[in-house]
Amino acid sequence: MAASQKVLFIIGGGPRIGHTVARKFLSQGYQVAIGRRHIDKVDVDGAIPVYVDVTKPETIENAFNEVESKLGVPTAVVYNAAALTFPPDKDPFGVTPDDFARDLTVNASAAYSALHHATRLARQRQNETSPLVFIATGNVTPFQPNPLAVTLGAGKSALAHIISIGSLAYDAKEFRFYFASQVTEEGGSVPYPQVNAAAHGEAYWKLVNGEVGGWDVRFTATVNGSPKFV
Ligand SMILES: NC(=O)c1ccc[n+]([C@@H]2O[C@H](COP(=O)([O-])OP(=O)(O)OC[C@H]3O[C@@H](n4cnc5c(N)ncnc54)[C@H](OP(=O)(O)O)[C@@H]3O)[C@@H](O)[C@H]2O)c1
Repeated sequence: MAASQKVLFIIGGGPRIGHTVARKFLSQGYQVAIGRRHIDKVDVDGAIPVYVDVTKPETIENAFNEVESKLGVPTAVVYNAAALTFPPDKDPFGVTPDDFARDLTVNASAAYSALHHATRLARQRQNETSPLVFIATGNVTPFQPNPLAVTLGAGKSALAHIISIGSLAYDAKEFRFYFASQVTEEGGSVPYPQVNAAAHGEAYWKLVNGEVGGWDVRFTATVNGSPKFV
Protein backbone atom coordinates (compact mmCIF):
# COMPACT_ATOMS: atom_id res chain seq x y z
CA MET A 1 0.00 0.00 0.00
CA ALA A 2 1.33 3.44 -0.96
CA ALA A 3 0.21 5.63 1.92
CA SER A 4 0.72 8.88 0.02
CA GLN A 5 -1.31 7.80 -3.02
CA LYS A 6 -4.86 9.05 -3.20
CA VAL A 7 -7.68 6.54 -3.21
CA LEU A 8 -11.03 6.68 -5.02
CA PHE A 9 -13.86 4.33 -4.08
CA ILE A 10 -16.73 4.13 -6.58
CA ILE A 11 -19.92 2.56 -5.21
CA GLY A 12 -22.22 1.25 -7.92
CA GLY A 13 -19.63 1.28 -10.67
CA GLY A 14 -20.54 -0.38 -13.96
CA PRO A 15 -19.48 -0.15 -17.60
CA ARG A 16 -20.52 3.44 -18.22
CA ILE A 17 -19.96 6.13 -15.56
CA GLY A 18 -18.31 3.84 -13.02
CA HIS A 19 -15.60 2.33 -15.17
CA THR A 20 -14.97 5.57 -17.07
CA VAL A 21 -14.51 7.59 -13.89
CA ALA A 22 -12.21 4.83 -12.62
CA ARG A 23 -10.01 5.03 -15.75
CA LYS A 24 -9.80 8.82 -15.52
CA PHE A 25 -8.61 8.73 -11.91
CA LEU A 26 -6.22 5.82 -12.53
CA SER A 27 -4.65 7.85 -15.35
CA GLN A 28 -4.05 10.65 -12.84
CA GLY A 29 -2.24 8.41 -10.37
CA TYR A 30 -5.08 7.47 -8.05
CA GLN A 31 -5.65 4.02 -6.68
CA VAL A 32 -9.20 2.98 -7.44
CA ALA A 33 -11.65 0.47 -5.98
CA ILE A 34 -14.89 -0.31 -7.81
CA GLY A 35 -17.79 -1.54 -5.70
CA ARG A 36 -20.66 -3.49 -7.28
CA ARG A 37 -22.48 -6.83 -6.96
CA HIS A 38 -20.97 -8.50 -10.03
CA ILE A 39 -17.29 -8.06 -9.28
CA ASP A 40 -16.36 -10.48 -12.08
CA LYS A 41 -17.57 -7.80 -14.52
CA VAL A 42 -15.06 -5.17 -13.40
CA ASP A 43 -12.67 -4.92 -16.37
CA VAL A 44 -10.66 -1.84 -15.52
CA ASP A 45 -6.92 -2.50 -15.49
CA GLY A 46 -5.42 -1.39 -12.21
CA ALA A 47 -8.69 -1.06 -10.29
CA ILE A 48 -9.62 -3.48 -7.55
CA PRO A 49 -13.13 -4.94 -7.50
CA VAL A 50 -14.97 -4.88 -4.16
CA TYR A 51 -18.23 -6.67 -3.51
CA VAL A 52 -21.05 -4.46 -2.33
CA ASP A 53 -24.83 -4.73 -2.58
CA VAL A 54 -26.13 -1.38 -1.41
CA THR A 55 -29.49 -2.89 -0.45
CA LYS A 56 -27.53 -4.67 2.33
CA PRO A 57 -26.02 -2.10 4.72
CA GLU A 58 -23.48 -4.50 6.24
CA THR A 59 -21.85 -4.96 2.82
CA ILE A 60 -21.26 -1.20 2.60
CA GLU A 61 -19.30 -1.15 5.85
CA ASN A 62 -17.42 -4.30 4.84
CA ALA A 63 -16.57 -2.73 1.47
CA PHE A 64 -15.09 0.37 3.10
CA ASN A 65 -13.04 -1.85 5.40
CA GLU A 66 -11.80 -3.87 2.42
CA VAL A 67 -10.80 -0.72 0.52
CA GLU A 68 -8.99 0.61 3.57
CA SER A 69 -7.07 -2.60 4.11
CA LYS A 70 -6.10 -3.02 0.44
CA LEU A 71 -5.56 0.58 -0.72
CA GLY A 72 -5.88 2.89 2.28
CA VAL A 73 -8.57 5.29 3.46
CA PRO A 74 -10.55 6.68 0.50
CA THR A 75 -9.84 10.34 -0.22
CA ALA A 76 -12.63 10.48 -2.82
CA VAL A 77 -15.91 8.56 -2.94
CA VAL A 78 -18.38 8.42 -5.83
CA TYR A 79 -21.86 7.15 -5.04
CA ASN A 80 -23.28 6.09 -8.42
CA ALA A 81 -25.84 3.35 -7.66
CA ALA A 82 -29.44 4.13 -8.53
CA ALA A 83 -32.76 2.33 -8.93
CA LEU A 84 -35.95 3.15 -10.82
CA THR A 85 -39.24 1.25 -10.96
CA PHE A 86 -41.54 2.50 -13.69
CA PRO A 87 -45.12 2.90 -12.42
CA PRO A 88 -47.69 0.52 -13.90
CA ASP A 89 -49.99 2.26 -16.40
CA LYS A 90 -48.14 5.56 -15.70
CA ASP A 91 -49.86 5.62 -12.27
CA PRO A 92 -47.10 6.78 -9.86
CA PHE A 93 -48.81 5.46 -6.75
CA GLY A 94 -49.30 2.11 -8.43
CA VAL A 95 -45.69 1.27 -7.53
CA THR A 96 -45.83 -1.26 -4.70
CA PRO A 97 -44.64 -0.04 -1.29
CA ASP A 98 -41.99 -2.76 -1.26
CA ASP A 99 -40.59 -1.58 -4.61
CA PHE A 100 -40.67 2.03 -3.46
CA ALA A 101 -38.81 1.15 -0.25
CA ARG A 102 -36.15 -0.88 -2.09
CA ASP A 103 -35.48 1.90 -4.61
CA LEU A 104 -35.34 4.46 -1.81
CA THR A 105 -32.69 2.35 -0.12
CA VAL A 106 -30.53 2.24 -3.25
CA ASN A 107 -30.98 5.91 -4.14
CA ALA A 108 -30.73 7.45 -0.68
CA SER A 109 -30.37 5.32 2.47
CA ALA A 110 -27.34 3.44 1.16
CA ALA A 111 -25.75 6.71 0.11
CA TYR A 112 -26.23 7.89 3.68
CA SER A 113 -24.43 4.76 4.87
CA ALA A 114 -21.60 5.55 2.48
CA LEU A 115 -21.42 9.13 3.80
CA HIS A 116 -21.36 7.80 7.36
CA HIS A 117 -18.54 5.33 6.79
CA ALA A 118 -16.53 7.58 4.46
CA THR A 119 -16.50 10.50 6.88
CA ARG A 120 -15.77 8.34 9.96
CA LEU A 121 -12.86 6.66 8.17
CA ALA A 122 -11.51 9.94 6.81
CA ARG A 123 -11.27 11.28 10.34
CA GLN A 124 -8.78 8.54 11.08
CA ARG A 125 -6.34 9.91 8.50
CA GLN A 126 -3.31 11.35 10.22
CA ASN A 127 -1.55 14.54 9.09
CA GLU A 128 -3.83 14.80 6.07
CA THR A 129 -4.38 18.27 4.69
CA SER A 130 -6.60 17.57 1.66
CA PRO A 131 -10.34 17.06 2.19
CA LEU A 132 -12.41 13.95 1.59
CA VAL A 133 -14.47 14.63 -1.55
CA PHE A 134 -17.81 12.82 -1.82
CA ILE A 135 -19.61 12.98 -5.18
CA ALA A 136 -23.14 11.64 -5.64
CA THR A 137 -24.20 11.06 -9.23
CA GLY A 138 -27.38 13.08 -9.54
CA ASN A 139 -30.03 14.15 -11.99
CA VAL A 140 -32.55 16.96 -11.93
CA THR A 141 -35.52 14.91 -10.65
CA PRO A 142 -35.34 16.65 -7.23
CA PHE A 143 -35.86 19.99 -8.96
CA GLN A 144 -38.07 18.88 -11.86
CA PRO A 145 -40.46 16.15 -10.62
CA ASN A 146 -41.50 13.49 -13.14
CA PRO A 147 -44.36 11.12 -12.23
CA LEU A 148 -42.68 8.29 -14.12
CA ALA A 149 -39.62 8.66 -11.89
CA VAL A 150 -41.49 8.63 -8.57
CA THR A 151 -39.07 6.21 -6.90
CA LEU A 152 -35.91 7.64 -8.45
CA GLY A 153 -36.92 11.25 -7.85
CA ALA A 154 -37.87 10.63 -4.23
CA GLY A 155 -34.52 9.01 -3.62
CA LYS A 156 -32.43 11.59 -5.49
CA SER A 157 -34.31 14.33 -3.59
CA ALA A 158 -33.26 12.80 -0.29
CA LEU A 159 -29.76 12.32 -1.64
CA ALA A 160 -29.52 15.95 -2.74
CA HIS A 161 -30.77 16.97 0.69
CA ILE A 162 -28.14 15.05 2.62
CA ILE A 163 -25.40 16.26 0.27
CA SER A 164 -26.52 19.86 0.91
CA ILE A 165 -26.53 19.12 4.65
CA GLY A 166 -22.94 17.93 4.37
CA SER A 167 -21.79 21.08 2.66
CA LEU A 168 -23.55 23.19 5.30
CA ALA A 169 -22.37 21.27 8.31
CA TYR A 170 -18.69 20.59 7.67
CA ASP A 171 -15.64 22.68 7.00
CA ALA A 172 -14.75 22.35 3.32
CA LYS A 173 -11.13 21.92 4.37
CA GLU A 174 -12.18 18.57 5.86
CA PHE A 175 -15.05 17.37 3.64
CA ARG A 176 -16.53 18.52 0.32
CA PHE A 177 -19.81 17.19 -1.05
CA TYR A 178 -21.35 17.37 -4.54
CA PHE A 179 -24.60 16.30 -6.18
CA ALA A 180 -23.42 16.21 -9.78
CA SER A 181 -25.91 16.03 -12.63
CA GLN A 182 -25.47 15.88 -16.36
CA VAL A 183 -28.28 17.94 -17.92
CA THR A 184 -29.55 18.50 -21.45
CA GLU A 185 -28.95 21.80 -23.24
CA GLU A 186 -32.39 22.84 -21.91
CA GLY A 187 -31.39 21.90 -18.34
CA GLY A 188 -33.50 18.76 -18.13
CA SER A 189 -32.92 15.09 -17.31
CA VAL A 190 -30.75 13.22 -19.76
CA PRO A 191 -32.34 10.21 -21.49
CA TYR A 192 -30.59 7.07 -20.25
CA PRO A 193 -28.78 6.27 -23.54
CA GLN A 194 -27.39 9.81 -23.68
CA VAL A 195 -25.53 9.67 -20.39
CA ASN A 196 -21.99 10.73 -21.29
CA ALA A 197 -19.57 8.71 -19.21
CA ALA A 198 -16.48 10.60 -20.42
CA ALA A 199 -17.99 13.93 -19.38
CA HIS A 200 -18.67 12.47 -15.93
CA GLY A 201 -15.04 11.38 -15.65
CA GLU A 202 -13.77 14.85 -16.52
CA ALA A 203 -16.40 16.59 -14.36
CA TYR A 204 -15.63 14.45 -11.31
CA TRP A 205 -11.91 15.09 -11.76
CA LYS A 206 -12.58 18.85 -11.70
CA LEU A 207 -14.76 18.48 -8.60
CA VAL A 208 -12.11 16.54 -6.72
CA ASN A 209 -9.64 19.28 -7.61
CA GLY A 210 -11.93 22.01 -6.30
CA GLU A 211 -12.43 23.68 -9.68
CA VAL A 212 -16.24 24.05 -9.36
CA GLY A 213 -18.20 25.82 -6.63
CA GLY A 214 -21.44 24.85 -4.84
CA TRP A 215 -22.89 21.44 -3.97
CA ASP A 216 -25.55 21.32 -6.76
CA VAL A 217 -23.34 20.94 -9.81
CA ARG A 218 -24.81 20.64 -13.29
CA PHE A 219 -23.06 20.15 -16.61
CA THR A 220 -23.81 19.45 -20.23
CA ALA A 221 -21.66 17.14 -22.29
CA THR A 222 -19.94 18.64 -25.31
CA VAL A 223 -19.38 16.59 -28.47
CA ASN A 224 -15.82 15.73 -27.47
CA GLY A 225 -17.04 14.40 -24.11
CA SER A 226 -15.90 17.26 -21.93
CA PRO A 227 -18.30 18.80 -19.40
CA LYS A 228 -19.57 22.35 -19.63
CA PHE A 229 -20.74 23.51 -16.21
CA VAL A 230 -24.01 25.45 -16.24
N1 LIG B 1 -28.12 13.03 -15.42
C1 LIG B 1 -29.16 12.28 -15.77
O1 LIG B 1 -30.20 12.77 -16.19
C2 LIG B 1 -29.02 10.79 -15.60
C3 LIG B 1 -29.62 9.93 -16.55
C4 LIG B 1 -29.45 8.57 -16.37
C5 LIG B 1 -28.73 8.07 -15.30
N2 LIG B 1 -28.18 8.94 -14.40
C6 LIG B 1 -27.46 8.42 -13.23
O2 LIG B 1 -26.32 7.71 -13.65
C7 LIG B 1 -26.00 6.74 -12.65
C8 LIG B 1 -25.81 5.40 -13.31
O3 LIG B 1 -24.78 5.53 -14.25
P1 LIG B 1 -24.50 4.44 -15.39
O4 LIG B 1 -25.81 4.02 -15.97
O5 LIG B 1 -23.44 4.97 -16.28
O6 LIG B 1 -23.98 3.28 -14.48
P2 LIG B 1 -22.71 2.34 -14.56
O7 LIG B 1 -21.57 2.94 -13.84
O8 LIG B 1 -22.49 1.83 -15.95
O9 LIG B 1 -23.29 1.11 -13.70
C9 LIG B 1 -23.88 1.26 -12.44
C10 LIG B 1 -23.65 -0.01 -11.70
O10 LIG B 1 -24.29 0.07 -10.43
C11 LIG B 1 -24.31 -1.24 -9.94
N3 LIG B 1 -25.42 -1.43 -9.01
C12 LIG B 1 -26.75 -1.42 -9.27
N4 LIG B 1 -27.43 -1.76 -8.18
C13 LIG B 1 -26.51 -2.00 -7.21
C14 LIG B 1 -26.59 -2.43 -5.87
N5 LIG B 1 -27.76 -2.75 -5.30
N6 LIG B 1 -25.44 -2.53 -5.16
C15 LIG B 1 -24.24 -2.27 -5.74
N7 LIG B 1 -24.11 -1.88 -7.00
C16 LIG B 1 -25.24 -1.76 -7.73
C17 LIG B 1 -24.49 -2.17 -11.17
O11 LIG B 1 -23.50 -3.20 -11.14
P3 LIG B 1 -23.84 -4.64 -10.51
O12 LIG B 1 -25.04 -5.16 -11.26
O13 LIG B 1 -22.60 -5.44 -10.73
O14 LIG B 1 -24.12 -4.39 -9.05
C18 LIG B 1 -24.25 -1.25 -12.36
O15 LIG B 1 -23.40 -1.81 -13.33
C19 LIG B 1 -27.15 6.72 -11.67
O16 LIG B 1 -26.79 7.40 -10.49
C20 LIG B 1 -28.25 7.43 -12.42
O17 LIG B 1 -29.19 8.06 -11.58
C21 LIG B 1 -28.30 10.28 -14.54
